[in-house]
Amino acid sequence: MKQTINDLTDLHNQRVLVRVDFNVPQDEAGNISNDRRIQAALPTIEHLLKAGAKVILMSHLGRPKGDPKKDAAFKMDKVADRLAELLPGRKVVKVNEVVGPQAEAGVEHLQPGEVLLLENVRFDPREQKGDEKFAAELAKLGDVYVNDAFGTCHRQDASMFAVPKLMAGKPRAVGKLVAKELDILGQLLSSPPRPVVSILGGAKVSDKIAFIKKLLSLVDRVLIGGAMSYTFMKGQGRGIGGSKCEADKLDVARELLALGGGKIMLPVDHLVVEKLDQPQGAKVVEGDIPDGWAGVDIGPKTIAAYQAEIAKAATVVWNGPLGKFEDEPYSRGTKTIAEALAASKGVTIVGGGETAEAVEEFGLAGKLTHVSTGGGAFLEYVEGTPFAALEQIDERKSS
Ligand code: 3PG
Repeated sequence: MKQTINDLTDLHNQRVLVRVDFNVPQDEAGNISNDRRIQAALPTIEHLLKAGAKVILMSHLGRPKGDPKKDAAFKMDKVADRLAELLPGRKVVKVNEVVGPQAEAGVEHLQPGEVLLLENVRFDPREQKGDEKFAAELAKLGDVYVNDAFGTCHRQDASMFAVPKLMAGKPRAVGKLVAKELDILGQLLSSPPRPVVSILGGAKVSDKIAFIKKLLSLVDRVLIGGAMSYTFMKGQGRGIGGSKCEADKLDVARELLALGGGKIMLPVDHLVVEKLDQPQGAKVVEGDIPDGWAGVDIGPKTIAAYQAEIAKAATVVWNGPLGKFEDEPYSRGTKTIAEALAASKGVTIVGGGETAEAVEEFGLAGKLTHVSTGGGAFLEYVEGTPFAALEQIDERKSS
């Protein structure tokens, strides 16, 4: 088991270098449209501040391309402002450098109980190359390393992997968020209360092949929705009209259906439209989708059947929206399934950026057991991919 920040004593006056995942969604003006990942890091930050540590935070934001004009939207200033609002009474300083004299001076002036946020680590191209010289410049800023960036644990970027590697010999721990994610997802993988039902949606089967295979070995039922259901239907030789479909993945869909051996349920009816921007013309069809029409959501019979499965489940794990939920007229399937999870007395786990955003938007996140902060990391963890970044964290010493 990994050492957590609860195992670290004597943090007073220590420079604690914390890798967080503040890669938050932004609107067109660059404003934070959802601060969930910042909120999720607060328990760790507050714990360290209370212990009198000097907290140095590092994160990436977006995928900067090296063009300063276009990349300006990825500066960490708005994140720092939001963090300061969430930490009333605490000093939060942001520096405009990732590494270098300004960053070093900022750390030098930092007092116990204060926070310093470095500039977006991906502004330095060496971050994603895992460069050790760059990592050494970051590593020298800290006496202690903390990984609380669950959403980035599947990456081997310098701040995730080379920095803790170079800090061997100094305390290296996971934060409260990573510890919680590992605990809940670990239980899901090892001994979940049964029956386990999983709900899978989203556009592409191809993004989730390994994930679906893993789920088929773990769960008792897989309920499919979203555009991926049309690829499965087409794989069965059924009509899907003009619905989205991965025409080159029909073999994969057939293979998964065979592997599922009856565990997989596909929608029995669909909300369909002739034109996406004309929701008033939507209708429900059962069975195949006629030519000239495209599926945009699961239909009422499917919703009822899926609700019944969720009501019987002792564990539910959900990834991917069930329709084009960002358009309100097509959001009913995703919303009613979110409500069914909220009403469940079982363990309810939601993973993935979009699905997490959907349950938040519906105001239901607080009614679920766990909403993972990982998108790709959630999928890879459930698939069983080992995270090299976590291998750099010390094991808890047995007492
Ligand atoms: C995520 O949002 O999944 C993580 O922050 C990782 O971001 P990345 O996919 O750009 O590496």
